[in-house]
Amino acid sequence: MTPASLLITNIGELSTQDHRRPDPVLRNAAIAFEGERISWIGPAPQAPAADEVLDAGGRAGLPGWVDSHTHLVFAGDRSAEFEARMAGEPYAAGGIAVTTEATRSASDYDLTRLLMARAAEAAAGGTTYLETKTGYGLTVEEEARSARIASTVADTVTFLGAHLVPPGADPEEYTELVCGPMLTAVRPYVQWIDVFCEEGAFTADQSRRVLAAGQTAGLGLRVHGNQLGPGAGAALAAEFGAASVDHVNHLSDADVAALAGTWTDWDSTAGTGTPGTVATCLPACDLSTRAPLAPARRLLDAGVQVALASNCNPGTSFTSSMNFCVATAVLQMGLTVAEAVRAATFGGALALRVHTGEDRDGARAVGSLAVGHRADLQLLNAPSAAHLAYRPGMPLTGMVFRAGEPVR
Ligand code: NIG
Repeated sequence: MTPASLLITNIGELSTQDHRRPDPVLRNAAIAFEGERISWIGPAPQAPAADEVLDAGGRAGLPGWVDSHTHLVFAGDRSAEFEARMAGEPYAAGGIAVTTEATRSASDYDLTRLLMARAAEAAAGGTTYLETKTGYGLTVEEEARSARIASTVADTVTFLGAHLVPPGADPEEYTELVCGPMLTAVRPYVQWIDVFCEEGAFTADQSRRVLAAGQTAGLGLRVHGNQLGPGAGAALAAEFGAASVDHVNHLSDADVAALAGTWTDWDSTAGTGTPGTVATCLPACDLSTRAPLAPARRLLDAGVQVALASNCNPGTSFTSSMNFCVATAVLQMGLTVAEAVRAATFGGALALRVHTGEDRDGARAVGSLAVGHRADLQLLNAPSAAHLAYRPGMPLTGMVFRAGEPVR
């Protein structure tokens, strides 16, 4: 049973990601939880009394990962497609139809069971706030079913009916379906709408209609953009004030400038102000599709806030390991350890607009450790967060707490 108050002490390095503090990284620190919220943070010798005390043994502590981009509601296997790709076949969005067929054939029970197992894997890897999407149903009934099932497991759900025009469907008629009856059917279960704006998926004009319909329905906006080649996704996301544009492998200077222009009312030192459009980089997907790695360094240097997410899905990135994403961002994408950890915690929370206050469902802020925030913490089997990249692939996730409860 979770004690009313829990003190975790002897934390060697506590990376709060709360940049309003004079000391965002504390040494020899302690953190206290009251129920599901953080009640105190400070130097271990000054810690208050608590019902229960846990000695972290000098381990590093940091916020749980915020995985802001996954596609976990699916059935079926595409390892053969992956193998063929590693033998030289290019990735094509058409693989989505293969998963759609398998997903439609699965029972509610099986889809829920599969989703729960994937969410449990993510939690075991340190993820404490999880977004997931629909997008492998692609009919009114099947998208509503995916959304309903997703809403029973994930922290927040995105409607991605505009993932692929189903084979044989008319693109214009399908876009109208997404913007009309499909949106109405999923609306009770979702907080976000997304569109795959890419050649072979949805055109700029169709994407615009999807975003406008979502906006009218009161949903937050996100865009899959600039993944397979240059395109309108990033610019559209900036124009619509979307919370994020995800993938961003192929960005022009104008795209980067448009994204940077959405961050003019943001104080990046304190991490406060009015957020713009987060560029969400998906390194595991980039590696699994042998795509050019997203230009995270260039984006950060231009003043764009960046998130790292797993994009766990059966086609392009079948991993929910945020440790892997952080290590890749440091080793291959030119981010410092501090930047990569921030992008996988606070950056994800920004992309989901849960970095402060309360989310739409009344959940507390996540992605940083501060009094009043949700008690989402991970302890590493290492003395510092640098070990995530210094010892890539090693089992560094120690204890994980979600809303004050140990989940690992
Ligand atoms: O984010 N880009 C579109 N959607 C997924 C791929 C889905 C699939 O191939 O099944 C992605 O990479």
